[in-house]
Amino acid sequence: MTTAETALTGKKPGEGNTRRDFLYISTAAVATTGTAIAVWPFIDSLNPNAETLAQSKIDVDISQIDVGQRVTIKLQGRPIFIVHRTAAQIAAAKKDDTNPDLIDPATDASRVQKEEWLIVIGVCTHLGCIPLGQNDGDRLGKWGGWYCPCHGSAYDIAGRVRRGPAPKNLYLLPYEFKDNGMVSIG
Ligand code: FES
Repeated sequence: MTTAETALTGKKPGEGNTRRDFLYISTAAVATTGTAIAVWPFIDSLNPNAETLAQSKIDVDISQIDVGQRVTIKLQGRPIFIVHRTAAQIAAAKKDDTNPDLIDPATDASRVQKEEWLIVIGVCTHLGCIPLGQNDGDRLGKWGGWYCPCHGSAYDIAGRVRRGPAPKNLYLLPYEFKDNGMVSIG
C-alpha cells in the first residue's frame, strides 16, 4: 500500500476570511488502485498524472478534519467535497427533509452514512461547473451549502439543490468508513 501526504484546504463556515486552513492529510490508496488525491483547487505541481487520474478509489484520513471544516479531494479528475458538519448544519439539513420546495426531494439521512460527514461529488448537476463553498470567503448561497456561479444554482448543506436551474442534488458516490479514522472513497 502506498502512502502519500497531500495538502488539502478547508474552512469552518462562519469564520469567513479569518481562517484558512492548510491541512496535510495522510492518505493511503487501496493497493489495487494506487494513490489518487490532490488539492482542489490545487497547485499545478501536484496535478496527478494520467495513471493517477485513472485510479478509482482513495483512502482519506478524515481524523484531521475539524468540525465545520470542508475539504476537497480530487478523484478521477473530479472534485469530491467532504464536509465535517456541525450540529447546527445537521439540524438544518434534517429540518428541511420534508420541505415541499425541494427540487430533488431526499432526506438528509438518505444522503449520508454518518450524519456528521457529507461526502458528495462537487460538480453542479446543471452543466458541470464547480460550485463555490469549499474555500474561505466563498459564496455559500441562501441555504448554506454551495452556490454555483455559472447560472445561480444553490445547494444546501446536504448537497440538495434548492434553487435551479440544476435539476438534481449533488451526486453521491460510494464510500466506506474504516476503523482507523480513514474513509475509503470511490
Ligand atoms: S452549471 Fe451550475 S448552475 Fe449551471
